[in-house]
Amino acid sequence: MPLLTTPALAPPAPARPADPLDASFSAAQQRSRELTAAIRRDPRRFRVLTGDRPTGPLHVGHLFGTLANRVRLQDLGVGVTVLIADYQTITDRDSPGTLPGDVFGLVADYLAAGLDPQRCTIFAHSQVEPLNQLMLPFLSLVSVAEVARNPTVKEEFGATGGAAMSALMFSYPVHQAADILFGHANLVPVGRDQLPHLELTRIIARRFNDRYAPGRPYFPVPEALLSEAPLLLGMDGGKMSKSRGNAIALAASEDETARLVRGARTDTQRVITYQPGERPEVANLVLLAALSLDRTPEQVAGEIGPRGAAALKALLTEALNERLRPLRARRREFAADPGYLRQVLADGNERARQIATRTLAEVRQMMHTRY
Ligand code: TRP
Repeated sequence: MPLLTTPALAPPAPARPADPLDASFSAAQQRSRELTAAIRRDPRRFRVLTGDRPTGPLHVGHLFGTLANRVRLQDLGVGVTVLIADYQTITDRDSPGTLPGDVFGLVADYLAAGLDPQRCTIFAHSQVEPLNQLMLPFLSLVSVAEVARNPTVKEEFGATGGAAMSALMFSYPVHQAADILFGHANLVPVGRDQLPHLELTRIIARRFNDRYAPGRPYFPVPEALLSEAPLLLGMDGGKMSKSRGNAIALAASEDETARLVRGARTDTQRVITYQPGERPEVANLVLLAALSLDRTPEQVAGEIGPRGAAALKALLTEALNERLRPLRARRREFAADPGYLRQVLADGNERARQIATRTLAEVRQMMHTRY
């Protein structure tokens, strides 16, 4: 999901393709590989915080991109906290009344994908007052110019000089620092577009430590765990996104899945190959089928070959529906039990509140603001 973009005010920033020449990005990739090995050796050293904006049902791009990775981390024994960033969407919507449905829909998607509320914490940040209060001291540690340099903020700001941007939106990267640091998370799985946000969180953690906890760092300086997952496109070849009608939602029916795949854009070449650069739409369908079947894209392309796009689409529909069947069955059960979803979220909110309350008390102590 793109970060802080507020569709009502500006279109979301397109995800940038990996640029092998970008040194800081390849350094982050290298570091992520080291971290992945360290997680396997000692999962309990890591506290993971990830988040989503509640903008609608999760789709297969999320499943293969982030959800599967969260479940994997959870199953390795890493403490995983999943934050629903509802404050990041409050200005996006035509009607504020749709928010609860989206929030509980997210909880249902998480549980259906395999997140286990006994082992991880799922909560909505608006419900955790002491987390939000951390934003005030954090705001004091960064300058307006530093926040304005954040690429997402800059882009929003740039078009209109901030005239169409809410001040909350401007400060999102600082809010995100509170999201990450309230529970002392030291690892944040992110896509490339989120790296600058994490950098600001790291600056805030360091400055807080230098100023208020010299010699005894209080906040960890969290690291990025870059997703290895390939970027999946929507059925029209654009970025997969609910609002473009090109996404296959986890909650979609099998018929709907078949319809979306049938309508997917392909090209005029008969023989199916896997060439992401030259044939992005066809390659995307091959990749989705490969991910669903746990095969390589080359294997899938080789299997279909001269049988063409119709055969590829038939295979993909079958593979996706098969792969999603257990998840969808679980999701239907959860969706039919709103009391349970409410309980899962209430428990998560309570756990997060306990942690945030303690952090805020310690922060006040260190800042000498306890009277
Ligand atoms: N900005 C993230 C997004 O748009 C969501 C988010 C909010 C988040 N707080 C976070 C992600 C903290 C990671 C950590 O996807």
